Amino acid sequence: MIKTVEWTNEGVRMIDQRLLPTEEKYLTLRSYEEVAEAIKKMVVRGAPAIGVSAAFGLALGAKQSVGTSVADLEDDFGYMCEVMSKTRPTAVNLFWAIERMRAAFNREKARTQNTEEIKANLVTEALNIFQEDIESNRSIGHFGAPLIPEGATVLTHCNAGALATAGDYGTALGVVRAARDAGKRVAVIADETRPFLQGLRLTAWELAKDEIPVTVITDGMAGHVMKGGKVDCVVVGADRIAANGDTANKIGTYMVAVLAKENNVPFYVAAPITTLDLSLSSGDQIPIEERDTREVTHIGSHQLGPDGVAVQNPAFDVTPNEFIAAIITDRGVARAPYVASLKALAGAKKVGV
Ligand code: MRU
Repeated sequence: MIKTVEWTNEGVRMIDQRLLPTEEKYLTLRSYEEVAEAIKKMVVRGAPAIGVSAAFGLALGAKQSVGTSVADLEDDFGYMCEVMSKTRPTAVNLFWAIERMRAAFNREKARTQNTEEIKANLVTEALNIFQEDIESNRSIGHFGAPLIPEGATVLTHCNAGALATAGDYGTALGVVRAARDAGKRVAVIADETRPFLQGLRLTAWELAKDEIPVTVITDGMAGHVMKGGKVDCVVVGADRIAANGDTANKIGTYMVAVLAKENNVPFYVAAPITTLDLSLSSGDQIPIEERDTREVTHIGSHQLGPDGVAVQNPAFDVTPNEFIAAIITDRGVARAPYVASLKALAGAKKVGV
């Protein structure tokens, strides 16, 4: 099983995703600042993995706080939440995890004045968030597997696998793994996903490790392979889903969705309910992260583009709901009209599988 991020007595341990696939190196982060920096620099990435890491970072920060009164600890904790919330803007799981840790703090504060007890229970809450993420990926797989035909080739964009979550199954790749575990033959086409190359470096790495057949293409080849009848469905992850089903995911996803519709290929989004942001009525309101343009002009330290030209690097785009055949969540499958179906799932009970 791939261990993306975990809690240890020494700190938060995570695989350095910037180095994959050529180096499998684990880092132990020993302060909340180091965890925040790791999220910013994409040592860890993927919406659910960012949320779990932030929760561990806050538990670690609280544990190390020297505040002796609840009021001091609360000041420290509030500041840490601020720092954590400034790491990356698009994936709502980050903010969801911070709010859940804050709620745990408030619950504890109302119950006890013992700071050591509060700290211990914040660690427990972060571990719960971690465990629930693994379980929710299994549920996504359970609901998504029936949508994958026997012998299917699934196209995916970016990495929405074990590396993008607490570990184990993943969301989009969780659907693929669940189909495989249900006895279906399934293969994957992975878009390389310029500029950060999550598809080439991460999706290909984890699928190959799992012995699931994978073929990498450059992003510009997606239309060609769909038109050639080589793709049975598309399954991608999500960073934030608005109330109407509009979905922010890795830059290039929108292009894939349009091509899928044009070629009558069903386009599915797979995400836990924690990726849903019902406070936003449409995808236009989702903040899109702009990253360093060096990610576009350079590969590592090697410069590819000319000096001085204008370059853009939006890290995500929004796929309008009309391109999405279904949204596979850990509570069931939502279909259009999404305002009603997503609201119903958000209010539904968690399903254990
Ligand atoms: O910039 P990243 O690598 O954090 O972007 C990740 C994605 O866009 C994933 O598809 C998304 O977070 C879903 S992960 C289960």
